[in-house]
Parts: sequence; structure tokens; C-alpha cells
Amino acid sequence: MTQRRENVVQWVYAAANDDQLAERYDEWANTYEEDLDRDFGWSGPSLAVDMALKYVPRDARVLDAGAGTGLVGQLLADRGYTELVAMDLSEGMLREARKKGVYGELHRMVMGDALGFPSDSFDAVISVGVLTVGHAPASSLDELVRVTRPGGHIVFTLRPDVFEQGGFREKQAELESAGRWKHVDVSAPVQVLPKGEPEVLHQVWVYQIR
Ligand SMILES: C[S@@+](CC[C@H](N)C(=O)[O-])C[C@H]1O[C@@H](n2cnc3c(N)ncnc32)[C@H](O)[C@@H]1O
Repeated sequence: MTQRRENVVQWVYAAANDDQLAERYDEWANTYEEDLDRDFGWSGPSLAVDMALKYVPRDARVLDAGAGTGLVGQLLADRGYTELVAMDLSEGMLREARKKGVYGELHRMVMGDALGFPSDSFDAVISVGVLTVGHAPASSLDELVRVTRPGGHIVFTLRPDVFEQGGFREKQAELESAGRWKHVDVSAPVQVLPKGEPEVLHQVWVYQIR
């Protein structure tokens, strides 16, 4: 195991910009699932999918934003969802996601930039492990709201410290007071990398688009 592999979560957190982050995920893609399972016990996808099941009907067209290798899409497909679209910054991660055979479309796009989907394209968006340190910014939420139809849901994981210090508290409140979305649910904080990074907590947030 190389030095990088021992610190692979910190290594992606520390990327200097989107290009470097994409390069790091491209390089990590083919061992991402094995590494996270063996060294970290990554539980973000199941935590978020269990929450999504409460609000998102099985026939929904769902955008998996920051789909990575498709762990979330696979869990959704296992539970009967059939209209799944993947988007991610990293071509390497999208190549792995394609192998799952569960996404009807896969797109390389960057959260934080304008997304190349028409408004109201999706019944739901799910984003797991993406709105985090050195990854997609709080401003990404504007575009996720735009591409979700009124009445649809956005489900995302967020670290409590990133909520407080990454501009999410303000952005989430701004979207609520602007009447763009309504807060529906938030989970308790859970250790999502219990083996390797036990101090990392995530909550799952759910909003409904107005
Ligand atoms: C920790 S992985 C999570 C992947 C998957 N959702 C999961 O739960 O396993 C973070 C993913 O977000 C992608 N990502 C990071 N920043 C992004 C951005 N600004 N826009 C789109 N994808 C991004 C990375 O390429 C990577 O695939």
C-alpha cells in the first residue's frame, strides 16, 4: 500500500482545484470501492438511499450528482428505481459507474458551474459525499434546485462542520427564504467512514422544491 493510498480520503480533500480533483479521482477510480470498503467502511450511499426511499417514488427520474463509481445508483436500482442519470467531474469515476449498467445516461459536468440540463429535468436529485471539503461548493445547490421540478426532492449528505463553515447554513437558508425549496427532513449525524476517519460525520438532508 502506497503513502497516497493510506491517506486517500485526505488526498482528495486536499486537491487544489477541480482539475486536480478530477485527476485524483481518475487515478483512484479503479480501486475506489475496494479501498473505501476495506479501509474506511464507507456507509454514505446506504444512509442516503434509505432516506431517499421515504420521499422519492420508484418511477422518479433521479439525478445522481457526483455519482462516482455508481454505488448510489446500484443501491437505487436494487430497490427498483429505473430512471437514473449519473453526472460527475471525473471521467475515470464515470467509466466505473457505466460498468454497473444501471444509469440510462452518464455526463461529465462540474457542480459549482452551470449544469447542462434544462430546468425541471428531474423528479429528484441525490448527492452523496460530494458537497464536502475541497469538493463541490454550497453554490452548487442553486443548480441542483434549478434542474429539479417543483414538488421534487433533493437528498444530499453533508458534514456538520461543512454545514457550519462551508457556507451551507447560509445557502440553505437563502433558498428557503427565497421560496425555492422547503426543508423536509435531516438525519442525525452518523460516522460514515468508521474504520479510517471515525471523526467524519454526515447528515442526510432532504428538501422539496417549491
Ligand atoms: C467521495 S466520492 C462519492 C461518490 C459516490 N457518490 C459515492 O457515494 O460513492 C465524490 C465524487 O464527487 C465527484 N466530485 C467532486 N467534486 C465535484 C464537482 N464539483 N462536480 C461534480 N462531481 C464532483 C468526484 O469526482 C467523486 O466521484
